[in-house]
Amino acid sequence: MVAFVSALPVSHAFSATPSTAACMTSTFIASRRVTHLTPRRVRPAPRMTFEAGVFETSNPFAAELKATAKYIASRGSGILASDESNSTTGKRLATIGLENTVDNRRRWRELLYTSDIGDYIAGAIMFEETLYQSAADGTPFVKILQDKGIVPGIKVDTGLTALPRTKAETATSGLDGLPDRCKQYYEQGARFAKWRAVMRISKADGAPSDAAILENAHALARYAQISQANGLVPIVEPEVLLDGDHNIDETAYYTERVLSFTFRALNEYDVCLDGALLKPNMVNPGTDSPNQCDAATVAKYTLQTMLRGVPPAMPGIHFLSGGMSDQEATENLNLLNTIEGSEIAPWSLNFSYGRALQMAVLKTWGGDDANKQAAQELLAKLARANGKAQLGEYEGPHPSPGGKVRNFQPLRLV
Ligand code: 13P
Repeated sequence: MVAFVSALPVSHAFSATPSTAACMTSTFIASRRVTHLTPRRVRPAPRMTFEAGVFETSNPFAAELKATAKYIASRGSGILASDESNSTTGKRLATIGLENTVDNRRRWRELLYTSDIGDYIAGAIMFEETLYQSAADGTPFVKILQDKGIVPGIKVDTGLTALPRTKAETATSGLDGLPDRCKQYYEQGARFAKWRAVMRISKADGAPSDAAILENAHALARYAQISQANGLVPIVEPEVLLDGDHNIDETAYYTERVLSFTFRALNEYDVCLDGALLKPNMVNPGTDSPNQCDAATVAKYTLQTMLRGVPPAMPGIHFLSGGMSDQEATENLNLLNTIEGSEIAPWSLNFSYGRALQMAVLKTWGGDDANKQAAQELLAKLARANGKAQLGEYEGPHPSPGGKVRNFQPLRLV
């Protein structure tokens, strides 16, 4: 008993006499169980110094991860998200009458990566197939990007699956075999990774449920931990969907709650935030909400939510476009970087856009190489507009023809 008591944390090893201790055995057991759930008590403080913390001494990639994250979050440039799965790419190609073949997907990515975007794009997220592909002249895509100063990245999740006993909520797959895949991607030249978790707001369905938030926070943290162990900067993407009729206060509440769970999980899994990036949604009202907001309100809510939820150690917050129109995505980003309070933002408020950078370019190309140059010039202008918006220096008119149209895409389960 004495040995048992002395093994307890100090707060429970009070001066019990043998007689009181005997009758308190059950209390000890109960309190020990509770104590067991308190990580600070069961995890001994590791030995560390300021220069050489746990992460720095245990991860051989530590310095590289931090440098890569900082580089990608550089002011004035952002991320081109071009990691759509073969199935999603096929749907996009179908809109311009192209068949979903390996070569057509390759041609499309070649158009993107050989555009003049190096001044405003610091990272490009690729799909696995694309990471191993080359341009028609035989130059690997990875080299084309690196030569422009663009860090190649890789989507490592394998898609969304239904989360049982929830109403149309999802978990993200891809943890099995992830360490080996990360090693191979690193060898191929990737230096950062992406994992997309998706949550939806629906009052009627009670979404997002705690089960969905917990599951997605856990998977994001485990993915981030594995990525960092294998030299890839994890982009942590907890997306709260734009779909729904909720108002902006509800989006702010759930986005903050999701961020809170996510960062708690990242901390529990010892993810080094200086070597990671965040990819959240902007705080918009649901697309079917009767209470739509102007860009200044969206920027105000988004900044407040990020200030409340994102630790300053993270170098960059790279928003997804999530269905916002091309113009909205640029204007909101510009306002975010100019509104009152943005001057104290400790991270770069940045972009990692897929649809807002690609859809108009795809349409301009139309699968016909006679239009390739025009499409590439448009992509360069879009990249520049968003790079300028990151600095709060964007001035219209927006380069996207039809730039006010929102770009929705239905969720796809694997
Ligand atoms: P959108 O900008 O089209 O939302 O895509 C970004 C992305 O990479 C989603 O995972």
